[in-house]
Amino acid sequence: MHPLLNIAISAARKAGKVITRYIEERDTLKVLEKGVNDLVTMVDQNAEHEIIDIIRKAYPEHSILGEETGFHEGDETTWIIDPLDGTMNYIHGFPSFAVSIGVKYKDQLEHAVVYDPLSQDLYTASRGSGAQLNDRRIRVSKRIGLEGSLIGSSFPYHERSKHIDKQFKVFKDVYTVCADVRRTGSAALNLAYVASGRLDGCWESGLKEWDMAAGVLLVKEAGGYVSDFQGGNHYLTNGNIVAGTRKVHGELLKIIQEHQ
Ligand code: IPD
Ligand code: CA
Ligand code: CA
Repeated sequence: MHPLLNIAISAARKAGKVITRYIEERDTLKVLEKGVNDLVTMVDQNAEHEIIDIIRKAYPEHSILGEETGFHEGDETTWIIDPLDGTMNYIHGFPSFAVSIGVKYKDQLEHAVVYDPLSQDLYTASRGSGAQLNDRRIRVSKRIGLEGSLIGSSFPYHERSKHIDKQFKVFKDVYTVCADVRRTGSAALNLAYVASGRLDGCWESGLKEWDMAAGVLLVKEAGGYVSDFQGGNHYLTNGNIVAGTRKVHGELLKIIQEHQ
């Protein structure tokens, strides 16, 4: 295993311990609103500090982009951290959230970890070496189209009234054809589920780099397709992403583009 992936796994597990330690006391947590419906607790913050601590000890020269602490400039290797993806779920005790850590060199995603601290499912990938769930190789599903597929989605928290009509049009057209649509409330888990074949595809909008960096590499290394809503590869910067098996990705993208 690559040493960077090893460190990413240790950091994700440590953050997972912070997250599970406070889960029974979540009603006492102070919840701050960073933006409309964009919530943060000291669990998010502590989890990020633990992750950064571990990275700093191993690689003090690297850059770090953390959701809660921003960009810490270093060299051309950047760690992209979402210490708790699915904070809304966590606060409500809805059991669907994860730690997401991606590592990129320049603009290339190199390593990925998504860790679900409740199930202890650990999704990992290194570029060119495939993706794993709990050390076993994973592949995207064999689904050859939207019909019969299980699809994930996330809607953005901000500017709901601006995007809502378009989102529901896409939702309606996808839902009409597929078997069902799931909203896990965690973009990182949606992508990890696509990588492991638990979902056949997903589409998300309004994401930040830390929501998807790790998940993108997982899907690609599991043989899946990823693009933005134009069919290009600017999802990390424009925040819109479609992922899935080749055919499912293609059909989702077609529906999305019909409503652009
Ligand atoms: C959120 C989740 C959610 C997505 C939001 C993200 P957070 O991340 O990934 O699924 O719809 O856009 O902000 O705030 O829980 O880390
Ligand atoms: Ca997130
Ligand atoms: Ca988060």
